[in-house]
Amino acid sequence: MTSMMSSLKSAAAAINLSKITCTFASLAKPVARPGDRPGVGAGDYTAVCEASLTVARGEFVSVVGPTGCGKSTLLNIAAGLIAPTAGEVTVFGTPLKGINRHAGYLFQSDALLPWMSAVDNVIVGLIFRGIRRADALERGHQWLARVGLSGHGHKYPHQLSGGMKKRLSPAQVLINDPDILLMDEPFSALDIQTRQLMENELLDLWSADRKSVLFITHDLEEAISLSDRVVVLSAGPETRPIGEFAITLPRPRDVAEVRMTPGFLELHKQIWDILKAEVQKGYRQGLAA
Ligand SMILES: Nc1ncnc2c1ncn2[C@@H]1O[C@H](COP(=O)(O)OP(=O)(O)OP(=O)(O)O)[C@@H](O)[C@H]1O
Ligand SMILES: [Mg+2]
Repeated sequence: MTSMMSSLKSAAAAINLSKITCTFASLAKPVARPGDRPGVGAGDYTAVCEASLTVARGEFVSVVGPTGCGKSTLLNIAAGLIAPTAGEVTVFGTPLKGINRHAGYLFQSDALLPWMSAVDNVIVGLIFRGIRRADALERGHQWLARVGLSGHGHKYPHQLSGGMKKRLSPAQVLINDPDILLMDEPFSALDIQTRQLMENELLDLWSADRKSVLFITHDLEEAISLSDRVVVLSAGPETRPIGEFAITLPRPRDVAEVRMTPGFLELHKQIWDILKAEVQKGYRQGLAA
């Protein structure tokens, strides 16, 4: 009964990662040592091991974990950019083969085309899908306004500040109206005020049409203030989820104000109790490498 319930739940999910393992092959092949995992070559690196993660339709899920633990790897697997070594990915109940066409992806670094103006970068997906240029441009300028870049559409990426480029990326993805948003630390390079403006804008958009969101961040406060659920990953190697917290803070939320509420502080304490040890472990491993 329980397994029937869980398979019904995962069939309905926007994204279901089931027992995902991801091993990166080493180019240099040292001699095998006793204790190496079967099927894993000596020197290969198992970044993620038997990790399961679900994003329900319309749910906003954040994943936090120490640097280098495998957050981007999991997101790349959900995007179909990396095929897992083992495990299964389903998108709206269908096994994922190749690129996830239901998803828009905000990379950790921006993905702007340097030879195109800001507005052309924003509308590139619409043009690719055959939308008339005049219609695409109208929508492109609306999106530029939403991310605070009205009047900058004619500029090329090298003529924009780092923060402006960061704000262009969400417009570039959201204009295509994807069912699923995969976001990899999209606001990490922004100053705190712009970052909070962008986070509130994202929440407004999300509450308007409830996209399914998988949001990667190393910032626990950002994760709690945005999400319905926060998943904590262990330090690598062989990363997997080690904690999951429902964020029941009332919506609509203002990301700056919600951080001062007692409910937020209590959740922060609970999650940090688990995350802290992993961050310290990840840091020690980084020093030892
Ligand atoms: N293509 C690859 N080949 C070999 N190792 C890789 C590859 N991609 C990632 N890794 C390794 O897998 C681990 C997880 O990397 P990943 O980029 O997923 O971490 P992350 O949690 O996103 O880190 P950060 O918070 O710094 O962005 C790291 O140890 C990284 O070196
Ligand atoms: Mg990353």
